[in-house]
Amino acid sequence: VIDIGSLYSNTGMFTYDPGFTSTASCESKITYIDGEQGILLHRGYPIEQLAEQGDFLEVCYLLLYGELPTKAQKEDFDQRVTRHTMLHEQMSRFFTGFRRDAHPMAVMCGMVGALSAFYHDSTDISDPHQRMVASIRMIAKMPTIAAMTYKYHVGQPFIYPRNELSYAANFLHMCFAVPCEEYKVNPVLARAMDRIFILHADHEQNASTSTVRLAGSSGANPFACIAAGIACLWGPAHGGANEAALNMLAEIGTPDRIPEYIARAKDKNDPFRLMGFGHRVYKNYDPRAKIMQKTCHEVLAELGIKDDPQLEIAMELERIALTDEYFIEKKLYPNIDFYSGITLRALGFPTTMFTVLFALARTVGWIAQWKEMIEDPQQKIGRPRQLYTGAPQRDYVPIDQR
Ligand code: ACO
Repeated sequence: VIDIGSLYSNTGMFTYDPGFTSTASCESKITYIDGEQGILLHRGYPIEQLAEQGDFLEVCYLLLYGELPTKAQKEDFDQRVTRHTMLHEQMSRFFTGFRRDAHPMAVMCGMVGALSAFYHDSTDISDPHQRMVASIRMIAKMPTIAAMTYKYHVGQPFIYPRNELSYAANFLHMCFAVPCEEYKVNPVLARAMDRIFILHADHEQNASTSTVRLAGSSGANPFACIAAGIACLWGPAHGGANEAALNMLAEIGTPDRIPEYIARAKDKNDPFRLMGFGHRVYKNYDPRAKIMQKTCHEVLAELGIKDDPQLEIAMELERIALTDEYFIEKKLYPNIDFYSGITLRALGFPTTMFTVLFALARTVGWIAQWKEMIEDPQQKIGRPRQLYTGAPQRDYVPIDQR
């Protein structure tokens, strides 16, 4: 606690906490993390059980409503999401304004921001019904936007949603089907995609979620707030880490070069970090990383990929790091991003799409947290203070006298 009263007599006391390492910005009932023990619960349910036994839309319902749905509630929810999967046809023309080689996250950010232009007048955030409609719209349209982003990226025609398919299968269909060719979604891969979505659904007050809450605290349009979350997620220290982790594995190339990279990660004069390692909250194995590793093996087995060189490097890197004093002392374990890149690449996505998939899945967490914030009677506009270290008050000097 710092008293800067000597500089500003009426500023009073506040905490100075760079990176908010020990400041709670809100109360929340959605997600609980015990970083020391490696526990992640959504509304009290362990992530392992949700990922093994639930499906993504069930988890969406849980995050939004606080309880698991009954069968009838689930059917109704699935149907409501399905009704909103289409984009306004005008939205598809926005894509052509982007450079062909634009990063998909840049396109995604712009497209989701553009949704606010379509649903601004119909989104009265003081109305609970309209808040829920906006939430469902967001969850329903993200796979369509993400798939169109992919198609634009690879230069193929857009594929419209097929609403008789499951959420994950529909997404794979929109990404990988091409006109005039038969495409059947592999159910094992659709299940893996669905599980990847579950693993990314929410993670309490991480940087992008805090961004969405902060943007939303001013009463801004929720679609614009999600676009802000996407911008924040893009960074390599956050959602961009799976892309960075896979690039790192490719750069390492062969297992014999691992010690060189471990040494670089430990060298304080080298900015290099092991991507996919370490976490602000988990000081133990990220529980999502374990499920992701299992999913990775399942996907590779289904596709008949026996020896994936990058998986081999990843497993060896993990083995060496987990027995290295530096990583033990700093409690650095693989996070979800360590194995997700290999899995997503095996599913057929280029690395540039990885963070887009993360954004797709995290949308439900962002929107659930946004809704919780709006519905909180204590809610105020977010307005952090600062510790001013600049010049004291001084007098203006005319330019010819400086
Ligand atoms: N490789 C090598 N050293 C590391 C790593 C790493 N991946 N991560 C942290 N450290 C070291 C730091 O150098 C620091 O050492 P010091 O105490 O000697 O200065 C110490 O561990 C603590 O690191 P901080 O950066 O202070 O920890 P913070 O909580 O701020 O950072 C973060 C967490 C950003 C995730 C960090 O571990 C990192 O950069 N990891 C690599 C990127 C990554 O995988 N991001 C994905 C996060 S998960 C997600 O967004 C879904």
